[in-house]
This record gives sequence, C-alpha cells and structure tokens, in this order.
Amino acid sequence: MLEIERIMRLLETEFVGREIHYYEKISSTNTVAKQQARDDAREGTTIIAETQTQGKGRLNRPWISPKGGIWLSVILRPQITVEDALKITLATAVAVAKTLYNMFDLRAEIKWPNDVLVDNKKLCGILTETSSRKKNVDFVVVGIGLNANFDSKTLPEELQTVATTLKEVLKKEIDREKLICRLLKEIEDLYKTFKAKNFETLLNEWRAFAVFLGKKVEITNFKEKFEGVAVDVDDTGALLVKLADGTMRKVLSGDVTVRLV
Ligand code: BTN
Repeated sequence: MLEIERIMRLLETEFVGREIHYYEKISSTNTVAKQQARDDAREGTTIIAETQTQGKGRLNRPWISPKGGIWLSVILRPQITVEDALKITLATAVAVAKTLYNMFDLRAEIKWPNDVLVDNKKLCGILTETSSRKKNVDFVVVGIGLNANFDSKTLPEELQTVATTLKEVLKKEIDREKLICRLLKEIEDLYKTFKAKNFETLLNEWRAFAVFLGKKVEITNFKEKFEGVAVDVDDTGALLVKLADGTMRKVLSGDVTVRLV
C-alpha cells in the first residue's frame, strides 16, 4: 500500500500534489477528480487510487488497474482555449518519459499522443479530460496509468502481448512513492513551461522521445483508416502525416500503429 505521508515528505513541488486524496478502491481517479474540480478543488489537487473498478482509457476503452500500479489524476486550471489542451497531454507524456529516464536510466518512447512504450509495449497511458465554458477551459484532469509493480500476466490475455510493466522491464519492484514524487515534480515543471507559452521547448522535449517520427504509420479513427509517414507535430500538438501522394494530413484524434515494413 502507498504511504501518502511519505509522499508528502518527499514531494518537492509548489502546488501539484500538495493536496492528495487517496483511495484504496474507487471507480476511476479521473471521474473523482472531475467531480472534485467541479466542487472547486484547487489547482494541483491529486487523486490516487490503489485500484480502480472502472478505470477509463482513451476512446472509451476500459483501463485495467490492478494493485501495484500507479493510478492517479491531477487537476489543472490553465487559462487556455480547448485546442491548447492537447499540449498538456503531450507535456504529461514527456513528464512520464523523463521521470523513467532520470530514475532508472530507462529510455521509454512516446507514441502520439499519449502512450509511453518500452520495447514497443505499452507501459503507461494518459487520459486528459477537459471541461470548458464556451471556448475557454474551466479545468483539465490529467489521468496517468503507469503499470508499475505487477506482472502483465495478471492482465487479460489480449493485453499481455501489448502491455508491459516496470517490474518486468527492470526485473525488480520499484519505490512507487518516490516515483510519484518525481513524476508530480516533472508534471509541475512542464506545466510551468506550458503556461509560460514555451511551446517550442515543450514540443522539442516531446520530439526527443517520439521515436516513431519518420516511420510509416497507420492511423485509425472513428471515421477512417489511412497510412503515411509520421513527420512531426505542429504547434498545436496535432500529428502531421505525409501520405503516399505527398499531401500532408493533420491528425487530431485516433490511434497510431507503427508499421514495421
Ligand atoms: C489510454 O492509454 O487509453 C489512457 C489510459 C489512462 C488510464 C489512467 S489510470 C488513472 C486515470 N483514471 C482513469 O480512469 N484513467 C486514467
């Protein structure tokens, strides 16, 4: 079980994680965070759960959240338009990748927009949910699911070949409290970069981990499926894909599969 008091002792942030609500079992940290944000929770409030019964992934997929994982959501209140919120997802993926590199010397890869992979297997997913009034963001909930101290064999069979855990990659259990502290600090630092509108710095950090850039990809979203080469992200965080006929497509949602041939 996580020791929240130890997290509070080790935490080096100004506001992210300064208020933590911890649950042994809840539906979804994102759902609870959204409720608390509507009830005026302050910026940086963090919801952490030991397990989730209705963990949510992107595109309405379930997110399996066994004990030993890191399942948390952070409430942010940036003064931005809805379009800018995509960059917060990218910044969070960078925060996860940097934490893994700094703590374990582990070179994780980011796949647009929000997957963190090791050896092409998913280690972490990020679900950003935004509430807005007209065009302006009211709050953003950033949910992070990091497969930490459990075996992927405990996941449903169809996930075992596509998912991995830190325990498997590093061949040992990790100090979850320390990892959470480092992660919250990276999130805060990158969020400050974002708020200072240093988008180019942010996107460059993201590009450094986005090894799929330059590779052939297949994009699947609710209305279509197409192939091309993932060229870059633009200044809004959208993925730019070059099609065989040379035209450029801007991708704002969907799944990216990296083609090996
Ligand atoms: C994805 O890759 O599809 C996103 C997965 C996000 C999972 C995390 S776990 C903590 C937070 N609470 C949720 O219900 N989802 C996110």
